[in-house]
Amino acid sequence: MGLQKNFLWGGASAANQCEGGIFEGGRGLANVDVCPAGTDRSDVICGRRKMLAMDQEHTYPAAEAVDFYHHFREDIRLLGELGVQVYRMSIGWTRIFPNGDEEEPNEAGLAFYEEVFKECRKYRIKPLVTISHFDCPIGLIKKYGGWRSRKMIECYLRLCRTLFTRYKDYVTHWLNFNEINMILHAPFMGAGLCFEPGENEEAVKYQAAHHELVAGALAVKMAHEINPENKVGCMFAAGSAYPYTCKPEDVWEALLTDQENYFFVDVQARGYYPSYAVKRLKKRGIWPEMEPEDLDVLKSAPVDFISFSYYNSRCIAAPGSGGEQAEGNLFQSARNPYLTFSEWGWPIDPLGLRITLNQVYDRYQKPLFIVENGLGAMDTPDENGEIHDNYRIDYLREHIRAMKAAVEEDGVELMGYTSWAPIDLISAGSGEMKKRYGFIYVDKQEDGSGTLARSRKDSFYWYQKVIETNGEELG
Ligand code: BG6
Repeated sequence: MGLQKNFLWGGASAANQCEGGIFEGGRGLANVDVCPAGTDRSDVICGRRKMLAMDQEHTYPAAEAVDFYHHFREDIRLLGELGVQVYRMSIGWTRIFPNGDEEEPNEAGLAFYEEVFKECRKYRIKPLVTISHFDCPIGLIKKYGGWRSRKMIECYLRLCRTLFTRYKDYVTHWLNFNEINMILHAPFMGAGLCFEPGENEEAVKYQAAHHELVAGALAVKMAHEINPENKVGCMFAAGSAYPYTCKPEDVWEALLTDQENYFFVDVQARGYYPSYAVKRLKKRGIWPEMEPEDLDVLKSAPVDFISFSYYNSRCIAAPGSGGEQAEGNLFQSARNPYLTFSEWGWPIDPLGLRITLNQVYDRYQKPLFIVENGLGAMDTPDENGEIHDNYRIDYLREHIRAMKAAVEEDGVELMGYTSWAPIDLISAGSGEMKKRYGFIYVDKQEDGSGTLARSRKDSFYWYQKVIETNGEELG
């Protein structure tokens, strides 16, 4: 019993939420840079309000973030001390191709990540690299409208080839897109999409999704050709949909919600459009335009493993019923009366992780990897500057217990677990700094003040023990 010896424990982050330094090293502007904090954020990340530049009116905390760009040596040393075996991180696309469609990559950007990988190697930390974590160059949005255009495939593959070749000696584990299903919920952040008045938004989203799916499959193929050791996973925002009641209409609606999410993984893991998607997209007149070879491409290169983020389950009612709404990772759903909620109103459901792991494994029978799970909470240092984040420890302990049960009792094949996020960073959903996830506190405040000093929270020592004992001692 117990988790396998080579189970990978770690932490996960994203370039645009931790690096800062957005004007340094020749980096170009990306969609994620122009999403402001505050009330307009939601309209911008959803593509309802077109913002392709930063302005004076808004604030952009991610421009400096926690300055991983200058602190990465210290940060990776702390991750080494924490004992992580894997660090999930992403590449800022515009550090490598500032406009997105240059013929040659930007050496300063490539050198930066090479240093990051060297530093990881020093502490025997394996990088797990997300090629695009909500990242699309503004240059490509202006020129092509983001992923609505097929031209994106070529630009993305140029990025992939550059990364697979340059980092062949450092990286063998990749994710092609972060939370690919977010195209449907945050289309500007997920795929650089802005909508024109009167346009059929669903059609644009599924067209963009098709381009990402083809690009993702070609990336898998390319990764294997460049280095047979490479393993590429897909990544989606998971969290099973529970029917609000046992009323068949609620059960049906929950099933539809799950299918909407699994659609992406169905294509990426099985290699073809599932029949429910073929029927429904055609019926709605939004079947994407395809090149004749696309379906063969999808078939030829399914992913090697399936990764996902899990923050909460969702509770789904038939239209017109279901009462109060609850927040969640960029989706709203009915409020589940059996759960408690985080300070940001997200449901807390550890058993939901076991349920999700079982459902995903039953469906695909491929190795799984939990690449995000954590609690966003406000941390207040005490008079000695220490953070006693028992709430975070409680959240993680219960989720890790549920994860272990899925492996040890249900037989789910799981490669590893990277919690979101080992070091405090900027929230993707809200753009706030005060929504913290880390084991390591960063002295950076909501108003931008702070020394950027790093310090260990109580959860740091707790997680260190968890890793050391391969999940046997959960405190
Ligand atoms: C996932 C993203 O959606 O959830 C991360 O992949 C994000 O980028 C995380 O940070 C937590 O969400 P939030 O909104 O609390 O930052």
